[in-house]
Amino acid sequence: MAISREHWGSRLGFTMAAAGSAIGLGNLWKFPYITWHNNGGAFVLIYLVCIAAVGLPIMMAEILIGRRTQKSPVGAMKAAVGPAWGWVGAWGVLAGFVILGYYTVVAGWTLSYFAKCLGWTFNGFPADVELGSMFTGFVANGSLQIVLSAIFSLATMGVIYFGVGHGIERVTRILMPALFAILLLLLVSALTMSGAGEALAFIFEPRFAHMRWAGVLEALGHAFFTLSLGMGAMITYGSYMSRRDSVVTSSLTVVILDTLIALFATVIMFSVIFSVPGMREQVSKSTAGMLFITMPKLFYTVVPMGNVLAPLFYVLVAFAALTSTISLLEVIVSYFIDERGVGRVKATTLCGLATFVLTVFCALSLGSSSTLSGFEWIRGKGGLFATLDHIASNWQLPTGGFFITLAAGWFMTRKSTEAELADESAPGWFRYGAWRFFIRYIAPLAVASIIAAVIFFHADFS
Ligand code: TRP
Repeated sequence: MAISREHWGSRLGFTMAAAGSAIGLGNLWKFPYITWHNNGGAFVLIYLVCIAAVGLPIMMAEILIGRRTQKSPVGAMKAAVGPAWGWVGAWGVLAGFVILGYYTVVAGWTLSYFAKCLGWTFNGFPADVELGSMFTGFVANGSLQIVLSAIFSLATMGVIYFGVGHGIERVTRILMPALFAILLLLLVSALTMSGAGEALAFIFEPRFAHMRWAGVLEALGHAFFTLSLGMGAMITYGSYMSRRDSVVTSSLTVVILDTLIALFATVIMFSVIFSVPGMREQVSKSTAGMLFITMPKLFYTVVPMGNVLAPLFYVLVAFAALTSTISLLEVIVSYFIDERGVGRVKATTLCGLATFVLTVFCALSLGSSSTLSGFEWIRGKGGLFATLDHIASNWQLPTGGFFITLAAGWFMTRKSTEAELADESAPGWFRYGAWRFFIRYIAPLAVASIIAAVIFFHADFS
């Protein structure tokens, strides 16, 4: 007899877990630094357009496919459209593997900065500490990087062993609101700093003159990354969803929360960078360390009770990362469980170990191994870490997402998608026709034309 599929335990369970997956290092670590790289304003605007016009409709598409089929991505695509579509799911499993490879390394950093902050809180924050060079030295310490990411991998595997249901849900319900509250507090403090005006102008004033096509691809790619789209994570989470939850309301909630948190983080960090002398130069030397270079300064010099909040903040970032790595590993593991008949414990162990091998290579590619750190396949993206990030978010996720739009918009019947979206749980304002227009035309055309523009106008791959 078939065992009935696990489900979220409460009404908001899905929304919480999906928000936990979406909100992570993409918002707190990556978005601020790619915004910096891409010169703010215009990039942020294009990103927001991608979120609304491409991200939201695809979020709804993935969740509906999951909820309808009650299967993980490979099986879900086969069941929703046809046997040949299984490879769209497989493409997603591969993307998950690549993302986990480097994401776990950054997640490991949060653990170390938690420990560092505890030290600063109890022993005082050294006035002359050079947070920029400290960070560069830290990531180049290969054995430390491996140990930190090993701890994080084990934590991720630990949660996956126990299954999604109550574990993830219970944790996210408490931690996500706490993270939101602490960010609000930081936002208020940051806005009182002298550089706040310059920061807001940098982020929100669109200056298109310096925009490159590659920047547009990056905005699109990041819209997929930050919302956990394009690889079936939301299909998988949707497959544990019960019919009481509305696909529409939960998609919109997740998208709004995710966007707010990314913008908060960026305003906070840029306000510090523009206020503290010398910070701009330090950050420019290793942009990828922004979260770890700018934030400590804010806590220990400006924020009221900052020395209490600093360690708490890095714990919350670590948990935000954990609720994201869980969703990535769950996609890979659920494939082996659902499609290959492997048991959960065995699948978790094997998939966890396999991704950890890739993580070790990434951990060594930040200065500790010159071979792994130095090669440059893609101009401006030197080293394995940056290369994998570029490939996964700018290419794998948008292409995966493109086929998901085709599946939901053109290959599934209108009746089947309408039954999931416009059911009795849907909010009154929702117009199914509008979603259908976006998923059939706007989203696929936007994704395809941005990818084509980058390829054919040989946009600088920087
Ligand atoms: N969205 C997460 C973040 O912003 C990362 C993530 C989790 C993800 N699951 C994913 C990205 C699935 C792409 C696909 O940190």
